Amino acid sequence: MARRMAGKVALISGAARGQGRHHAVRLAEEGADIIAFDIAGPVRAQGAPAASPADLAETVRLVEMHDRRILATQADVRDSDAVTDLVNRGVTEFGGLDIVVANAGIQGNPGPVAELHPADWRAVVETNLSGVFHTVQPAIPHLVARGGGSIVIISSSIALRAVPNLAPYGTAKAGLAGLMRTLALELAEHSIRVNSVNPTTVGTPMLLNPINFGLFRPDLDDPTEEDVRPVYRSLNALPVPYLDPDDISNAVLFLASDEGRYITGVALPVDAGYAIK
Ligand SMILES: NC(=O)c1ccc[n+]([C@@H]2O[C@H](COP(=O)([O-])OP(=O)(O)OC[C@H]3O[C@@H](n4cnc5c(N)ncnc54)[C@H](O)[C@@H]3O)[C@@H](O)[C@H]2O)c1
Repeated sequence: MARRMAGKVALISGAARGQGRHHAVRLAEEGADIIAFDIAGPVRAQGAPAASPADLAETVRLVEMHDRRILATQADVRDSDAVTDLVNRGVTEFGGLDIVVANAGIQGNPGPVAELHPADWRAVVETNLSGVFHTVQPAIPHLVARGGGSIVIISSSIALRAVPNLAPYGTAKAGLAGLMRTLALELAEHSIRVNSVNPTTVGTPMLLNPINFGLFRPDLDDPTEEDVRPVYRSLNALPVPYLDPDDISNAVLFLASDEGRYITGVALPVDAGYAIK
C-alpha cells in the first residue's frame, strides 16, 4: 500500500517530546519530511519539567530512522519572526509545505482565576493561542502555492467543558475553536482544510508530573502517578486513565491525509468519551 504522506512536507511545533515527537515520527513513517521546532528549554508556567535540546535531537534521530529528512530548530512559538524564519528555511530546503500540526503548548500553573498571576495568564495564552496563529500564518502562502493542504490544531477536551483551576489553558483552547473555524472558511477556496484534534488526558510529561498529581489528589501530601490514575480514569467514559500519544498521532494522520480530504472546520474529540460524561 502507498504510504499516506509520500512526497509531503509537514511542519510540527512542540516536536521535542510528547505528542509532537510522535506526530513527527508517525508522519515520517508514512513518508513525510519534517520541519520541526520546539523551545526545548524552560518556559514560565509550564507545569511539567522542561524539554531539552537532547529531546529535540532524539526526535531527529527517530525521524531519520525512517529515512526521512528533518530540519529541527530550537525556537519559541511566541516569537513570530523566529517561527516565520524557520518555516521559510524549511520550505526552501524541502521544496514546499503540505501539512501543519500546531501542537506546542503548556498547561500553566494550576489555580483559581482570583489568584492567577497576570504573567502566568499571558504565558499560557501567548503559547497556546497566539503561538498557533504564529505557526499557521507563515505557512499559509506555502500551502496556497502547493494548491492545497491540511492544518491540524491540537486543542483539548477542555475546550468543550469547564475545568476549574486551569482558566488560561481552557480559555486558550476554546479560543482555538474560533481560529480553526475562521481559517477553515478563509482557506477553503484554496483547498486547504483546517481542523482540530481535542484529546482527553494523554500520557506525556504535561499530564504525568508532580504538579498535576497534587492538583488531582489534593487530599494526599505527596501523591504519585498510581494515586492519580483512578482520578484520571474517572474523567473518561472508556476504562482508561490516559491515552497513548500514538492515539492522537493516528487522528492527526487521518486529518492530514487524503482519507480526510473533505473534512474541514471540525473539532475532533479523541477523548475516550470524556465529552459525553
Ligand atoms: N497531555 C495531555 O493530557 C493533553 C491533553 C489534551 C491536549 N494536550 C495538548 O497536546 C499538545 C502537546 O502536549 P504534550 O502532551 O505532548 O505535552 P509536552 O509537555 O510533553 O510537550 C509539549 C512540547 O511543547 C513545547 N513547548 C512549550 N512551550 C513552547 C514554546 N513557547 N515554543 C515552542 N515549543 C514549546 C515543549 O518544550 C514540549 O516539548 C499541547 O498543545 C497540549 O495542550 C495535551
